[in-house]
Amino acid sequence: MTQAVTVLGIESSCDDTAAAVVRGVPGDMTVLSSVVFGQSELHADFGGVVPEIAARAHAERLDVSVAGALEQAGVSLADIDAIAATCGPGLIGGVVAGVMTAKGLSAATGKPLYGINHLAGHALTPRLSDGIPFSYLMLLVSGGHCQFLLAHGPDDFTRLGGTIDDAPGEAFDKVARLIGLGQPGGPAVEAAARDGDPARFAFPRPLANKPGCDLSFSGLKTAVLRARDDIVAGQAGLTVQDQADLAASFQAAVADSLAGKTRRALAAYLDLAPAQPTLCVAGGVAANMTIRALLETVCAEAHVAFNAPPLALCTDNAAMIAAAAIEQMPYRHPDGMDLSARPRMPLDTKSAAMLGSGKKGAKA
Ligand code: KG4
Ligand code: ZN
Repeated sequence: MTQAVTVLGIESSCDDTAAAVVRGVPGDMTVLSSVVFGQSELHADFGGVVPEIAARAHAERLDVSVAGALEQAGVSLADIDAIAATCGPGLIGGVVAGVMTAKGLSAATGKPLYGINHLAGHALTPRLSDGIPFSYLMLLVSGGHCQFLLAHGPDDFTRLGGTIDDAPGEAFDKVARLIGLGQPGGPAVEAAARDGDPARFAFPRPLANKPGCDLSFSGLKTAVLRARDDIVAGQAGLTVQDQADLAASFQAAVADSLAGKTRRALAAYLDLAPAQPTLCVAGGVAANMTIRALLETVCAEAHVAFNAPPLALCTDNAAMIAAAAIEQMPYRHPDGMDLSARPRMPLDTKSAAMLGSGKKGAKA
């Protein structure tokens, strides 16, 4: 495909209602607009995303999101070449809301409809942000995902490993709650850790000795809980220094775990002799400077380039869904009105299903 196309993308698989317009060709795309309505305040009292509340909020905001994205891009529906929507994996009520919106727009305008795997959206983001050539290695680390993916092509991914229980962002959020910090936990733990001693608590590096690239964060969370309980058993509560030391020691354990498994994933990736070896990261946890610095060091040691798209494209957004459609259009047919929404939807159908699920719902 050499002719640039303009695609409207829709994303509603979790707790962000998003619409975007992207124009271009595979590997060379421009985000004309990207609208994201977060729902954190709606779920704040519940300690996690409530699927029913999320679905209702998506249904209420999808039309304004689409209208906003078109307006900000300065285009009308007539200028759009295709409509793309996340069709899984995710919280089913939200995914249904997005798919139904896309079907309605497609039926009304006659424009082709593309159902996009949310994980493909994340995994193809380095093509949108920086035109990174295939094959690259992707580490997806957020509140709902944790996977190493070899991206060979727009619809050709191999999963090398991932979490067998919690996603790392979920662990950051839970640890923040355990040690009395605010939400979202990632930035709060990172800020507290700046004044902390990462060596005060010897937290585990789960699965470090197990071959392969799988990760686990649930035991680490329990270890932080025990350490906290030991401290509060002997004094009235946690001091600010205790909070900082717990945060720093936990963050060091997450960073070490990710770095260790990244070394293994890089070894498997480099066996393929890629033309321009690159590790790409995506997801909210990739914003963490300690984790990012350690991953950059691991890449430098392996003579592999490190790529981190801007945070607005790393966290959930609809530009990545429109971009994934532009990448995939040359290789696939549009979907029909029988496109279904799927709670689980593995990106790599050749590998066994993943056991882990994030706080934001089961991820395949
Ligand atoms: O990608 P994202 O915005 O949403 C999805 O999970 O899809 O990721 C949000 C997660 C939250 O769990 C948040 O605590 C974590 O990313 N996070 C961080 C940081 N900023 C956000 N974790 C560690 N350090 C950070 N600076
Ligand atoms: Zn996501």
